[in-house]
Amino acid sequence: MSFEYQVRDLSLAEAGRHELRLAEHEMPGLMALRAEFGDAQPLAGARIAGSLHMTVQTAVLIETLVALGAQVRWASCNIFSTQDQAAAAVVVGKGTVEAPAGVPVFAWKGETLEEYWALADRIFDWGTDPEGHRVGPNMILDDGGDATMLVLEGKRFEAAGAVPATTGEDSEEYAVVLELLRKSLAEDPQRWTRIAEGIQGVTEETTTGVHRLAEYFRNGVLPFPSINVNDSVTKSKFDNKYGTRHSLIDGINRGTDVLIGGKTAVVCGYGDVGKGSAESLRGQGARVVVTEVDPINALQAAMDGYQVVRLEDVVETADIFITATGNKDVVMASDIARMKHQAIVGNIGHFDNEIDMAGLARIPGVEKVEIKPQVHEWRIPADGDVAAHSVIVLSEGRLLNLGNATGHPSFVMSNSFTNQVLGQIELFTKSEAYPVGVHRLGKQLDEKVARLHLDALGVRLTELTKSQADYLGVDVEGPYKPEHYRY
Ligand code: NAI
Repeated sequence: MSFEYQVRDLSLAEAGRHELRLAEHEMPGLMALRAEFGDAQPLAGARIAGSLHMTVQTAVLIETLVALGAQVRWASCNIFSTQDQAAAAVVVGKGTVEAPAGVPVFAWKGETLEEYWALADRIFDWGTDPEGHRVGPNMILDDGGDATMLVLEGKRFEAAGAVPATTGEDSEEYAVVLELLRKSLAEDPQRWTRIAEGIQGVTEETTTGVHRLAEYFRNGVLPFPSINVNDSVTKSKFDNKYGTRHSLIDGINRGTDVLIGGKTAVVCGYGDVGKGSAESLRGQGARVVVTEVDPINALQAAMDGYQVVRLEDVVETADIFITATGNKDVVMASDIARMKHQAIVGNIGHFDNEIDMAGLARIPGVEKVEIKPQVHEWRIPADGDVAAHSVIVLSEGRLLNLGNATGHPSFVMSNSFTNQVLGQIELFTKSEAYPVGVHRLGKQLDEKVARLHLDALGVRLTELTKSQADYLGVDVEGPYKPEHYRY
């Protein structure tokens, strides 16, 4: 099929390529995989449908998959997270702006929801084979589970023979998905069923996507094996925590340029992302308080020196509110209505349902003023004892580190994406070892990912002697910890 792509502006490719070149140096894990597997081409024959923030770091991931033999089509997993210069560089590849010769990317910063889902659809559309049959991908690389969800919902409605009507319960976004699948069903009533049959496996990047996979598996509707990349130690204990420590304040600063020192910041959720977020804000001198539902995480927060409160205790006095729970309905419109003038509200969890944006828009007399893209002042009229005031909402409630800034930096994403590539190789080349279910990469591979990042930081690892290894009951070469060890 002809080379197709949909990006903002191919003339940004040169700028993007410079950023990619610098990023490659900061992504030693991915570059080591290119060196190790470049000749063997373990992904030859893989047709990967990728749905993950189209950033500079992801561009290095995509080009690594290609260097290992894969064909790839890519969309972003968020309407605001694409870096247009990175998307352009990937499309141009070794070609020119006039004759691009890279990878088909379907993403730009600032998509509408309709565009987002139409672009997600494009990563499943691989043209037709010589007999005229539609070709689909045989692997999915997912972040948050939207690509997988599209396949499974499509398959489900095809089995039922109809897409249900939208109900008042459905989100605006799900209504868009239903409309897309309705059209698809009318055009080709078995499309998603065939795509699902052709998928050998999916590797999932993030906590929220892993929750979705586990639920599909529990409900008996997951048709292919999956690898939970998030719970590799070298992913969630690094990207979710140290990545967030870097990119949370980057997003707040670029969005608002408000001094963080001395302010009271509330972090909702003290998991890996919450821990990085709290540290990020504390590093700037904020007084950080935490909300939690899990007593273990609450105790951790307290031991780390954060006061653990309920949102209602601080909603009228805090300056910055960050949600990091992966849950829904964490900060409601009724909370926002009580916040002080020019409080900042943002989310760093995967989906935009942590903050009740729909409820905010329904407050009588509320006004939304765009300060700049992804930064909005919501003017809330006086109500009883509460005076008229404004609240600043970042990235319309979507993950602000990617909407207002550029997400996590290369070095930490190299850890995450090295796991992604290893996960793709495992599922594509050893499918018999992975029955339908949600798997993790073995500890040996996790340790390998860490090892690949030590030299760059000048780490000199101590080696176990044989007798020490025997004493601990491990191999000199690892793995060094039992499965239940929590790091
Ligand atoms: P986690 O499961 O480790 O932590 C979430 C924490 O929130 C848990 O401790 C849970 O008890 C708590 N929680 C749940 N409901 C709550 C509520 N109503 N109030 C207060 N606390 C509540 O998950 P993790 O890995 O920290 O991820 C959180 C979210 O961030 C997920 O959606 C994940 O996909 C996303 N994520 C975003 C990244 C980004 O760059 N923006 C990077 C990595 C993950």
